[in-house]
Amino acid sequence: MHTARTIPELRDILGQHHRPAFVPTMGNLHDGHLALLREAKPLGDVTVASIFVNRLQFLPHEDFDTYPRTWDSDCEKLRSVGCDVLFAPDEKALYPEPQTCKVHPDPTLADILEGHFRPGFFVGVCTVVMKLFNCVQPRFAVFGMKDYQQLLMIRHMVRQFALPIEVVGGKTRRAPDGLALSSRNGYLGETERAEAVQLSKTLQAMAQAVREGERDLAAIESRAMRVLRARGWHPDYLVLRRRSDLQPPAPGDALVALGAARLGATRLIDNLEIDPP
Ligand code: PAJ
Repeated sequence: MHTARTIPELRDILGQHHRPAFVPTMGNLHDGHLALLREAKPLGDVTVASIFVNRLQFLPHEDFDTYPRTWDSDCEKLRSVGCDVLFAPDEKALYPEPQTCKVHPDPTLADILEGHFRPGFFVGVCTVVMKLFNCVQPRFAVFGMKDYQQLLMIRHMVRQFALPIEVVGGKTRRAPDGLALSSRNGYLGETERAEAVQLSKTLQAMAQAVREGERDLAAIESRAMRVLRARGWHPDYLVLRRRSDLQPPAPGDALVALGAARLGATRLIDNLEIDPP
């Protein structure tokens, strides 16, 4: 595996490759990330991962400074899945001057749910992803469905700017008990880790209610909020939305249940597409 620390190094390494398949990450890699790399591998003529903890997408009170940085094991894992090129710029290499030119994604998607509770988050995500796309010039880019709104956001950006990139969504990888894998799971204490699966269980209960024909979606949502609150969680949202744009659904729309909630100091997110009955 080649490692590039700067944009010119990356361009040198990628040289004659014309169809890179790209998986952007913030490191602290787990099986969810590696599954995306395995999915990327057969798509292009070279497989590229990036590791960059992007300050722009963190709010001042969030965990930018403490975000887990696990360089050696990340490199080992990337090698184990046959990643060809790792792009791992430091902040000076990716943002040599303050990044004042930013991508402002469509507020109807960017300012709801995650964007509502983390203002500016998707500006930070879209800006860094646009910049990483320009560095790597991928033909394919693989993003996880775990971050459902992020995936929709990137698809929308790619469409709106006519970027010549096929965006592929990789399914969410879970621990045996059903907890979606996440770098932030490492923050959980032992008791919290045992409790954490209740977020996905609650989304499953919401899906079940829909499948059983319950029509009052607001009632399903507030029941889910009550259940998690009663267990000591601080939920930001537990909602049933239209898959295509995350707006409140009309009858017949394909649905996804999405949730974000804090357990102790750790904020977890998850989602579940609901198959029609
Ligand atoms: P990060 O949280 O490191 O995630 C990198 C990619 O892995 C994202 O596409 C995310 O959706 C995917 N992923 C995370 N957990 C997953 C799981 N359990 N199963 C499948 N895929 C999973 O998302 C980011 O980084 C950043 O916002 C980034 C896109 C790199 C921009 O900074």
